Amino acid sequence: MELRGRYDALKAPPHSCWASWERCIDLERFRAENAYQSQAYFLATLDRYRLTTAYVEARDEQGWLRSLGEDGRFGAKLWPVARGLNVTRDLLDSILELAWLKEMLDFGMDDIIPVLDIGAGYGRLAHRFASLFPRGSITCVDAIATSTFLCEIYLKYRRCERCQVLPFDEIGELQAGQFTLATNIHSWSEMPLAWVKHWLGLLSDLSIPYLFLVPNFADFRTREPDGSHGDFGPELGRHGYRCISKSRKYRYSAVADELGVFPGDYYLFQKR
Ligand SMILES: C[S@@+](CC[C@H](N)C(=O)[O-])C[C@H]1O[C@@H](n2cnc3c(N)ncnc32)[C@H](O)[C@@H]1O
Repeated sequence: MELRGRYDALKAPPHSCWASWERCIDLERFRAENAYQSQAYFLATLDRYRLTTAYVEARDEQGWLRSLGEDGRFGAKLWPVARGLNVTRDLLDSILELAWLKEMLDFGMDDIIPVLDIGAGYGRLAHRFASLFPRGSITCVDAIATSTFLCEIYLKYRRCERCQVLPFDEIGELQAGQFTLATNIHSWSEMPLAWVKHWLGLLSDLSIPYLFLVPNFADFRTREPDGSHGDFGPELGRHGYRCISKSRKYRYSAVADELGVFPGDYYLFQKR
């Protein structure tokens, strides 16, 4: 409530999807089926998770699927895909995203990688990133008070010491040159264009060289407060970000691209 009061007092653009979605988050079961991560389909969901797990496992040279593991805490939906193996969408998506980034940016397991995660939710990516990369550090920011609050609690619970959660009204503390990579996963599609412009302006001011983007759709549409759509595609270029790589999430399998868990596109942008 204190954070919400602080965020409400700021002169910021109105929210769209999250103006109502924030109120639906269960603070004790924040990893359950909700607006942070949709985990269930209507049909054949366990089959989809089995297929996706086999896809992840086949490419998982570093053994992240088993080393990261999943305990289902805070209500996450566990899928018993094989004997002794339970997975979640949190686990599978995080492995695919981090493996893609590692390959595209060619970073080693011991590299110093300072990341800024925008729209960080409860800290899903931060938790997995900090667990895998011993010298990686990640700063989580969000403009929804409940997300900032849960992210702080969750990352403390997971003992992620190299993760920082920065409240939205303290973002002015960030410094140019501090980050190598910014990430935005399933977030810009859920906010108004005015907000995406705000965040791109920040990335540009901070001179962050790379941006990893995972939109919800095949295009760069936003959601405006009146229910209409904006387009943040042109804004990326206007802020100096050009696409250097784009892949399907399940790029090695057309079957997984059709039947896997929540297919989509991964983009890497570089600042001119
Ligand atoms: C679908 S969740 C994704 C969370 C996280 N990136 C992940 O992949 O697990 C969308 C996130 O966008 C955040 N969000 C909504 N409006 C925002 C805004 N105007 N600025 C920054 N983040 C926002 C929400 O609070 C939420 O954390």
